[in-house]
Amino acid sequence: MTLRLVLAVSLDGRLAPPAGGAAQLGGAGDRCVLEEALAWADVAVVGAGTVRAHGCSCLIHRPELQQQRQSRGQSLQPPLLIASRQATPVGFDPAWRLWGQPLQLWWLSSAPLLAAPPAGFARQLALESWQGLLAQLNAEGHQRVLLLGGAQLAGALLQEDLVDELQLTICPLVLGGEHSWLPPSAQPQADRWLLQEQRSLGDGEVLLRYQRKGNS
Ligand SMILES: NC(=O)c1ccc[n+]([C@@H]2O[C@H](COP(=O)([O-])OP(=O)(O)OC[C@H]3O[C@@H](n4cnc5c(N)ncnc54)[C@H](OP(=O)(O)O)[C@@H]3O)[C@@H](O)[C@H]2O)c1
Repeated sequence: MTLRLVLAVSLDGRLAPPAGGAAQLGGAGDRCVLEEALAWADVAVVGAGTVRAHGCSCLIHRPELQQQRQSRGQSLQPPLLIASRQATPVGFDPAWRLWGQPLQLWWLSSAPLLAAPPAGFARQLALESWQGLLAQLNAEGHQRVLLLGGAQLAGALLQEDLVDELQLTICPLVLGGEHSWLPPSAQPQADRWLLQEQRSLGDGEVLLRYQRKGNS
């Protein structure tokens, strides 16, 4: 199974501007490779903080990518697991665009689960450990897991050495501020990564895809 972390980052390693909020660092080229990564994935995972900031999630819009998924017997969009420490989606606004998106939502919580998934969610999964979650997904046939951030989730999974691939779009921005793509407290286990792909995406953006050393 493969866990790929996908982020758009500034030249100074930020994933959001100093004020935080809904970061939109990437341009058209980044959008394109993000959709390709979503098309690759069996499931996607995102932190509740990112969903709170945006009120929606990213979708595959390109018909050829949707067709590829359909021809593999997959849904048009990968199910989206939203990770939280709460039993229910605290602070999630009923007016958000998220609820109308053509996405199957799965609630992923480290709190004791309720009897039924929260409203709007097709499933709820217990997050006892990240390793246990990945084993469960693998057993269900979900072998390609896309991690959409944000920093807290990236830090948690890198700290447990569970990220196999890093896909970064380097955006031609210098943002400053405290929103590095890893929280200062994160202590990633793998410090060396092997470059797998580099691609110019236009408008000064560059895709870098790395594999964790020792992964083949
Ligand atoms: N540039 C990019 O590619 C990119 C990508 C993603 C996000 N972002 C930006 O990043 C910012 C949000 O990132 P963030 O780091 O604040 O938030 P995040 O990582 O998306 O979400 C943090 C939340 O995830 C839940 N969580 C974290 N660790 C957990 C664990 N071990 N177990 C269970 N749940 C856990 C908690 O939710 P609860 O509070 O519900 O318990 C926590 O508040 C926004 O500005 C967003 O725009 C940028």
